[in-house]
Amino acid sequence: MGVEIAVTGLTKTFGSQTIWRDVTLTLPAGEISVMLGPSGTGKSVFLKTLVGLLKPDRGSIVIDGKDLTRLREHDLYEVRKLFGVLFQDGALFGSMTLFDNVAFPLREHTKKTEAEIARIVHEKMELVGLEGAEKKLPGEISGGMRKRAGLARALVLDPEILLIDEPDSGLDPVRTSYINQLFVDLNAQIEATFLIVTHDINTARTVPDNIGLLYHRHLAMFGPREMLLSSEEPVVRQFLNAQTIGPIGMSEEKDADELAAESGRELPPLPPIPPQLGTSDGRPRRGERPAGEWCREHGVTPPPGSFQTAGALTPPRQTEYAAELATAAAPGPAGGPVGAVGEVD
Ligand SMILES: Nc1ncnc2c1ncn2[C@@H]1O[C@H](COP(=O)(O)OP(=O)(O)OP(=O)(O)O)[C@@H](O)[C@H]1O
Ligand SMILES: [Mg+2]
Repeated sequence: MGVEIAVTGLTKTFGSQTIWRDVTLTLPAGEISVMLGPSGTGKSVFLKTLVGLLKPDRGSIVIDGKDLTRLREHDLYEVRKLFGVLFQDGALFGSMTLFDNVAFPLREHTKKTEAEIARIVHEKMELVGLEGAEKKLPGEISGGMRKRAGLARALVLDPEILLIDEPDSGLDPVRTSYINQLFVDLNAQIEATFLIVTHDINTARTVPDNIGLLYHRHLAMFGPREMLLSSEEPVVRQFLNAQTIGPIGMSEEKDADELAAESGRELPPLPPIPPQLGTSDGRPRRGERPAGEWCREHGVTPPPGSFQTAGALTPPRQTEYAAELATAAAPGPAGGPVGAVGEVD
């Protein structure tokens, strides 16, 4: 079920600039994790380091018992096939149609026939809502469409690991909701470990199983969603609640004067923890745990009103899922838009 990625003591510098140091975290197999952080804290650099495009100065990235930071170029090429990556700018080839862009990894890494390639490309383009746009060039479509084309391309090799850099930047709120739903549904259907970088607080609060926050050249916190959403740690609290009061300033850290000026001001109470976004067909999520479980196990009282759907008094769906999980067998891959197709030859 997906693969675990164990990152230990990872440090990255460019010349004299340290981007982050001693980053240690484990992305649990098959779960969705979200990485947050102010602009410029090195989230994109982190994704590029995970996939082996940038070399860290120190530390290890272990997948399937192999340390990526120590692999030779040829072995790294093999390991990269495990990854589907949606880069922040979409990184499409400007002179190729969307069809050819999405087909590119299949032509590069597999020996599939053109007919098979066409079937897979159409399937993935339909999945991201781009059917009919196959002949368009990247320059002829909107930024949001380019994002979705990049996502279709990231999916064609049925990756074990999906790294997604700001899927929602440039998307309208409705499409952001659709793409979030798509991630949750995909995650329930394909055996992949997800890491999503986002600035969208609603996404961060509802989509992931785990949340991480990069700040001031280190990983401020990484852990289960409920842990961060109930955290009183000033940086985490400020960021996850999009507030101006706290240590994060307009340009990185606030200075002593700025902090002193707000010392008397009271923080607004922590907002309730929202229910986790469920799958659209009601099947359990891969990393599903009963709502409130983490808080109960750790003796943390969640903010009042947590785990209730807006305006509803019905119990959270997670409770039902938990009962389902306890009785039902693990869900099979059939029945969803993504099947076990397109394996690498
Ligand atoms: N190839 C590179 N060479 C030198 N410096 C780089 C390189 N790539 C990134 N940087 C620097 O690393 C820092 C982190 O950049 P990165 O793009 O990872 O930030 P980010 O957290 O993704 O920001 P945003 O939220 O704006 O996308 C920046 O200061 C950037 O200038
Ligand atoms: Mg970035």
